[in-house]
Amino acid sequence: MKALILAGGTGSRLRPITFTRAKQLVPVANKPILFYAIESIRDAGITDIGVIVGDTADEVMAALGDGSKWGVSITYIPQDAPLGLAHAVKIAEDYMAGDSFVMYLGDNLIANGITALIDEFRAGGCNAQILLAHVPNASQFGVAELAADGTIKRLIEKPVDPPSDLALVGVYLFDSEVFKAVNAIEPSPRGELEITDAIQWLVDNDYTVRPHIITGWWKDTGRLDDMLEANRIMLDMIVSEMHGEVDASTRVHGRVKVGVGTTIVNSVVRGPAVIGEGCVIRDAYIGPYSSIHDGCAVIGSEIEHSILLPRARVENIGRRLADSLMGCDAVVRRADGVPAATRVMLGDKSEVEIV
Ligand code: G1P
Repeated sequence: MKALILAGGTGSRLRPITFTRAKQLVPVANKPILFYAIESIRDAGITDIGVIVGDTADEVMAALGDGSKWGVSITYIPQDAPLGLAHAVKIAEDYMAGDSFVMYLGDNLIANGITALIDEFRAGGCNAQILLAHVPNASQFGVAELAADGTIKRLIEKPVDPPSDLALVGVYLFDSEVFKAVNAIEPSPRGELEITDAIQWLVDNDYTVRPHIITGWWKDTGRLDDMLEANRIMLDMIVSEMHGEVDASTRVHGRVKVGVGTTIVNSVVRGPAVIGEGCVIRDAYIGPYSSIHDGCAVIGSEIEHSILLPRARVENIGRRLADSLMGCDAVVRRADGVPAATRVMLGDKSEVEIV
């Protein structure tokens, strides 16, 4: 069995962060989302991974390399344009060479891994297995309608009026029959080959598609709030590690992970939180659910429930920064002088909320 990870797409819902980085490489608990996918595939015993790449190919390739740091073998499959998930399957046909595979959307996170699901599929009895989760906002996903006997009746991509609250999770298991489906379907009104249509084709043509409703935590990290929630869940699982230097007037409570070369002076750090390498935390409060990446500075300021990317700086802001995501080298600081106004230089699509 092989794996296919989708790491293309534009990440339009996470701009401006995704102007300069692949959405799958945004870190959650200081680790790129995509790395969690690779780890859960590897943990399920799969070592051959095809990665679909688009405009951000260079960055994805630089981050993953040949996969050897995870003990897997990665082959890159370029997709010229984001023409849909089923199109990604189509262009992976040669790579799969008749094998079954798990398709994993690189911006999805599943807390408890996929080993049990892969084992269930490997035990046989179906051509495809889809994962479903009960969600409050089904119209934002592919949605499944099940028959009374629990089999799949219908799948619809982002319905205005969803027939159920069962969303398609971004992890799918297929045998090679799926290639018949992706070669038979036509593009949807939005011009993409939809994976929901391909699975519907399998259902309509009497192939066996087994639904599996997951009860554990799952997240499509397309938007900021999802990213912060994913960060919360992953931080809930960290264990304390102290590799930095903490002075006597600092208090560290709860589970906190601190990297080498980081100094924490006269501050309070309340976990769960992760602080990377080479950071300076001074006269600061780092509250729960903060992920602070390498080279950041938080000075004379309070932050919580936020993600800081490498080298971001928060200096003397005199109020608490919360529910925020700061990009690489981004700065929020208090300036002295007049006029006492808020002064910004924001990139396209940036957002600042002043309360
Ligand atoms: C895609 C699929 C959708 C699925 C979702 C899961 O949507 O088209 O069926 O429910 O992933 O993450 P997208 O996130 O590309 O809009």
